[in-house]
Amino acid sequence: MAILPIVLYPNDILEKECIKVTAFDHSLEKLLDDMYETMVFADGVGLAAPQISIGKQITIVEVEENELIELINPVIEQKDGEEIDIEGCLSFPGLYGEVIRATSIKVTFQNRHGKKVILKAEGFLARAIQHEIDHLHGVLFTTKVLRYVELEEEG
Ligand code: CO
Repeated sequence: MAILPIVLYPNDILEKECIKVTAFDHSLEKLLDDMYETMVFADGVGLAAPQISIGKQITIVEVEENELIELINPVIEQKDGEEIDIEGCLSFPGLYGEVIRATSIKVTFQNRHGKKVILKAEGFLARAIQHEIDHLHGVLFTTKVLRYVELEEEG
């Protein structure tokens, strides 16, 4: 595995529509493994392919330890409720803001083997998935921030 450089804002690739994945092959598996190592190293809970300069519909989320979800070609089929909470993004180090997201979602995607998956999520997991899927359409959380907040950095 390898730790990849994370693209920081501003960079054109962060604001472009990503293309769908059609090949579920060894290089996709390697990319997913590298993305995971990169996300953990950066202490993030989500990472989207454009953040490592790959313009494809691939994202990973891990809001609870050992509960990694790999979403390829994800589509949000249903959204319910609204809530406001604080988000950050590995492409905007040190920046945090309040964003409205759906409280619960139903999302369909493919896993690393190309198998179709349906997932229902709520709360912080639903928020993280919505944030990451936005990345795949070139939408950054800063375009949705209601109010920026100061957060104490840990450590
Ligand atoms: Co982000």
